Amino acid sequence: MNQIPVMIDCDPGIDDAMMLTLAFAREELNVLLVTTEAGNLTIDKTTYNTLSFLTHINKRVEVAKGLPQPLLRKQEVAENIHGESGLGNVTWSEPTMEASARPAIVAMYDTLINAAEPVTIVATGPLTNIAALLVAHPEVKPCIKQISWMGGAVVGGNMSATAEFNAYVDPHAAELVMRSGVPIIMSGLDVTHKAYITRDEMTRLRTLGTPFAEKVADMMQFYTFTQRQTPFHAPGFAEQIRIHDVSAIACLIAPHIYDGDDYFVEVELEGRLTQGATIVDYTKQSGNEPNVYVLHSVNRAAFIELFFDAVTTIGKTL
Ligand code: BDR
Ligand code: CA
Repeated sequence: MNQIPVMIDCDPGIDDAMMLTLAFAREELNVLLVTTEAGNLTIDKTTYNTLSFLTHINKRVEVAKGLPQPLLRKQEVAENIHGESGLGNVTWSEPTMEASARPAIVAMYDTLINAAEPVTIVATGPLTNIAALLVAHPEVKPCIKQISWMGGAVVGGNMSATAEFNAYVDPHAAELVMRSGVPIIMSGLDVTHKAYITRDEMTRLRTLGTPFAEKVADMMQFYTFTQRQTPFHAPGFAEQIRIHDVSAIACLIAPHIYDGDDYFVEVELEGRLTQGATIVDYTKQSGNEPNVYVLHSVNRAAFIELFFDAVTTIGKTL
């Protein structure tokens, strides 16, 4: 099988952990490197969680620690959603591996330069590391096939009425990446609010019969509760648990279950009410060349199938 080489940049985070589950469950992907972002939690916590979760699912890969804060803004975390530990206060394994001696940007650079073919970057946090990489080493751009990012939204937000968390936390990084010329797939809230699991499905996770599936269900239960508390929630939040980051991997494995289109996208840096909003030229009237493939919708049944399959596959290996 021709595997897709990927590097994953994430900030676990409950849905980031579910994204890692799908990534490591699938033979279509060859994960070359995992890097961490300061996002849902401080960089120390997201790095610890990445090491802990990968130890638990028994996947050994280089994990390199990212930058400790957004490019310009003060860091804002989302412990209100992911819990103080960041993984729904569920205990995963004590890490048996250490973070790489190389900082994320050095590890990303080396991985890209030495890869046999262009690599896909999967980004499920703020884009701080990737922006810094592209500014410091623009020569790596031809080594990047595309960036599959969970972030932004055509309409609405979850940090403010107009901004999604990953874009809001480091809008300057997001804008640098949007402008980079590297092909981007954006799984924004438009699609991730359609890629949810219901409470009934969450209960069904427990019938998979593995300790791993039980822990995943516990984590989801925590997430159900906290997602309901967010002020900028969409209707139906109480019944629908959005596992946003999973789409950034699912759209690579099963592009046919997603619909989208190419648009010109910029990020608002100054707005009084709109800071961190991804401004999508939806009517295509600006005359600007599209720079982002924006996903709009997903076949939810097929998405859930992929998710359950991943939890089953990983659960059986432990
Ligand atoms: C994004 O924000 C984070 O809290 C999640 O992990 C996801 O990446 C959703 O807006
Ligand atoms: Ca995330």
